[in-house]
Amino acid sequence: MPDSLITETEVAARVAELAAEIDADYAATDELILIGVLKGSFIFLADLARRLEVKHRVEFIAVTSYGESESIHSGAVRMLMDVRHDIEDCDVLVVEDIVDSGQTLEYLMRLLAARAPKSLHACTLLRKPDRLEVDVDVSYVGFDIPDVWVVGYGLDWAERFRTLPYIGQIEPQV
Ligand code: IMP
Ligand code: MG
Repeated sequence: MPDSLITETEVAARVAELAAEIDADYAATDELILIGVLKGSFIFLADLARRLEVKHRVEFIAVTSYGESESIHSGAVRMLMDVRHDIEDCDVLVVEDIVDSGQTLEYLMRLLAARAPKSLHACTLLRKPDRLEVDVDVSYVGFDIPDVWVVGYGLDWAERFRTLPYIGQIEPQV
């Protein structure tokens, strides 16, 4: 099993803090639209959403930014599945598992902004500051982590380890 980088308890505590921050910021909002980025964000989104007191709706979007080999990053992002509802005039919060180069989130924010939401912000559980290639604004960040490959709590390595309850780190080469 992968070595632990962030324990289950630490993740749960931080998710509760993020939910409290989001609740405070959206206290005056009628309905918040959470857009989870598949697949990686599904567990984070489930835990975060259940902690939120602000009225919200859950949507999903699927994109891909990596080729067959997970370690090769082309920078190109492709839409696999769009949200089902119009977001015009809505308060939208994109929920990501991890911001690595930032290309995926930058693409998504540009795409969603073009649909004229009332507000648009991003929340990510993890971010690798050393790997950032583009300047993308993330309003809520769970943890800044070093440049290591992380798995668990929704994140995978070639589809493995997604349902590990903690955030582990692995050597992708092994
Ligand atoms: P970006 O476009 O480079 O920011 O990459 C974002 C996507 O790459 C994330 O949503 C993940 O799906 C994937 N990714 C990047 N780093 C990791 C990692 O350490 N573990 C698992 N997935 C990762
Ligand atoms: Mg992802």
